[in-house]
Amino acid sequence: MTAAEYKKRIDEALADCFLTDGDYPCAGLAEAMRYSLLAGGKRIRPTLVLEFCRISGGDVREALPVACAIEMLHTYSLIHDDLPCMDNDDLRRGRPTNHVVYGECTATLAGDALQAEAFGTILRSDLPAERRALCAGILADAVGLDGMCGGQFLDMLGEGKALTEDELTEINARKTGALLTAACRMGVAAAGGTPEQLDAAARYGAAIGMAFQIRDDMLDVLSTKEELGKPIGSDAQENKNTYMALLGEKVCMQRIERLTAAAKDALQQTYTDTGFLFALADSLASRRS
Ligand code: IPE
Ligand code: IPE
Ligand code: MG
Ligand code: MG
Ligand code: MG
Repeated sequence: MTAAEYKKRIDEALADCFLTDGDYPCAGLAEAMRYSLLAGGKRIRPTLVLEFCRISGGDVREALPVACAIEMLHTYSLIHDDLPCMDNDDLRRGRPTNHVVYGECTATLAGDALQAEAFGTILRSDLPAERRALCAGILADAVGLDGMCGGQFLDMLGEGKALTEDELTEINARKTGALLTAACRMGVAAAGGTPEQLDAAARYGAAIGMAFQIRDDMLDVLSTKEELGKPIGSDAQENKNTYMALLGEKVCMQRIERLTAAAKDALQQTYTDTGFLFALADSLASRRS
């Protein structure tokens, strides 16, 4: 499948989630959840789920709920990341942020509910029970104390302090790398893949995850809000530690190139059908949004 075909299937499956009628008492919360979920993200994480499932010998259709789940989880992280108490941003995916439209309380709850629904979506899927459990466990580890939430906490603690590259790498491995790594591993898990495949997927995911955040930091300085769909200059405004501020554009690009090569290398021994994932790694390295 092409990247556009994957995205279409993911978008269609997500469009069916949390549909309610006007009489439903929590329709306003469902609306806020759908507002951010369907605002048109790149769908990188669910695409990774589906492609890793495919190259690990699994049925892509069966993995679709797992793919939707990680996008729900990711969308929750974005809604909360934008809140006034966090990055305080007013634009996301080309639209006013969730809290700007629905208020902080509903936005917080929309994120909370998306997180719970992500796990529910995996656990209610038609995958064999042990694969469901493995996917849910991978996701929980990637999001919790040692994962995205831990990373967001360290990101906040680091505001206004001069961190070393190693410290910044540690933060980014958690706040961004963990979820991208989980996406790759969940695809393997949904296919009932081997420990060797899980390990290769983890190494690919960690490498593209790190490159992804370096590129994100670059775009916060170099892009435009029209192209990016989110504000630029947000990191400087919040006194964030970023690769861009620490290393500058040229070294950032060198790091990204090295990580992209490492990502491809991670798959070499385990998989042969790597064309899509190689091209994806390359496209993320030079992405403009
Ligand atoms: C943004 O993620 C948050 C980071 C981890 C840097 P994406 O760049 O994947 O955002 P969407 O899903 O395309 O909106
Ligand atoms: C946060 O990184 C990544 C998340 C865990 C949501 P950023 O704060 O840099 O993400 P953007 O730039 O707002 O998308
Ligand atoms: Mg942030
Ligand atoms: Mg942010
Ligand atoms: Mg950013």
